[in-house]
Amino acid sequence: MPKRFYIETVGCQMNVLDSELIAAELLQHGYEPVDSRSRADVILFNTCSVRQHAEEKIYSALGRLKHIKRQRPGTIIGVIGCMAQKDRQRIFRRAPHVDIIVGPGRLSRLPELLLQVESGAGPLLEVSLDRTAGDRESVRASFEPYQFDRSADARPLPQQAIVRAMSGCDKFCTYCIVPSVRGPEQSRPAERIEAEVRQLAEQGCIEVTLLGQTVNSYRDTTVAGRTLRLADLLKRLHEIDGIERLRFVTNHPRHMTDELIESVGTLPKVSPYFHVPAQSGSNRVLKRMNRGYTAQQYREMLDRIRATVHDAAITSDFIVGFPGETEDDYQQTVALVQAGRFKNSFIFKYSPRPGTKAAELYEDDVPYAVKQRRNNELLAIQNAISLEDNHRWVGRRVEVLVEGSSKVARKRPFSGDTVQLVGRTVCDRIVVFDGPPELAGRIIPVKIDRAEAFTLFGRLRLCKTQEEHSC
Ligand code: 5AD
Ligand code: SF4
Repeated sequence: MPKRFYIETVGCQMNVLDSELIAAELLQHGYEPVDSRSRADVILFNTCSVRQHAEEKIYSALGRLKHIKRQRPGTIIGVIGCMAQKDRQRIFRRAPHVDIIVGPGRLSRLPELLLQVESGAGPLLEVSLDRTAGDRESVRASFEPYQFDRSADARPLPQQAIVRAMSGCDKFCTYCIVPSVRGPEQSRPAERIEAEVRQLAEQGCIEVTLLGQTVNSYRDTTVAGRTLRLADLLKRLHEIDGIERLRFVTNHPRHMTDELIESVGTLPKVSPYFHVPAQSGSNRVLKRMNRGYTAQQYREMLDRIRATVHDAAITSDFIVGFPGETEDDYQQTVALVQAGRFKNSFIFKYSPRPGTKAAELYEDDVPYAVKQRRNNELLAIQNAISLEDNHRWVGRRVEVLVEGSSKVARKRPFSGDTVQLVGRTVCDRIVVFDGPPELAGRIIPVKIDRAEAFTLFGRLRLCKTQEEHSC
């Protein structure tokens, strides 16, 4: 009987992509996917270390697996991803029933390690070198960008795919653990990315999201005499038949060049969507975060985007309660959120990460209650802006890539030929409407009737009228 695997994924899109590639590789090795831990022979947790809360949740989930291991001692439990690289032996100490720990730079070893554990070799640990544990080349080589042939069966929606443009990060923002756990910044050669996107298009994929921690610092120097940047890569991918939407995340404000903004403005398949985290509106805090720009420079960048890209949707991340953040610093962040008119923002309470500069140098001195208040206030300000911004779409017709049934529809028994469907506009707005489930994976026109801060509600418009703009 084939071995069954279950992968639980938390954290960012990088983890979502890694889990998809692992699923594709395990499928090729004859494993079968299952949708619950209790039915699996191999349970993998793909983990995140960005905030402490995410780690604590994984430790409790691992604790709950003890009884599965008691009932079925042959079950293999693996911890992969950022926590595996960061916590290593600590995971074995806190959860001795774990069999395998594999860091994000060593994922290609997973199938072989599973075989070794099956034959009684566990527990096994496979992680990359620490960033200071060797010369740049050996550290880089120990963080392999994981790649594997794409399989439409491993994606929730075959028409949508994430493609790695870069891995790792060299920015060393003082609060952030990512450069330690994901290793040095490495761009994949454009040729390989292009080959992967062609393979995806052949599998029926229509939307590609290029991924990198700072994707707009993409640099391919493998072609003699030429450095290819993100704008060049977008132009090449734009030529691929079948691909209808191209997006890229996450951007760093310092690398938002005019050339890149212009390419978004002029290439019709590229989404007018920019996720560019600001993190703070205070120059003092930005400096202590080592972000490398001022609030004024960030605002100028927003102006450059808006002047060039019609109806650009810009989103951001903010951290509140960074060490030393005064009420005045926080008010400058409020001012940036108000001026920025972001489509939405993700707001986080600072969480000290052992191993980062901020955790080493600065006391976590903003009381939790203050962080909580700033978080709630900022979120309320942003949500009011998101609602106003979404209202602009009421009465308009938008093109929606249908992702499938909405959460509400999944809870209801299916009756008749329509269900509540959910999809996204080209600028990442969520749209809910009723329609037949077979529309999943297609781009269709929807007329918007109503707006909430995070969702647009509409009706299917299968006959096209040209008088309204689409997003
Ligand atoms: N504490 C809180 N938020 C953090 N982020 C990264 N590190 C931390 C931390 N130590 C946030 C940043 C980043 C997003 C992915 O997570 O806003 O953009
Ligand atoms: Fe972390 Fe900064 Fe790199 Fe983003 S740019 S992954 S916040 S170090």
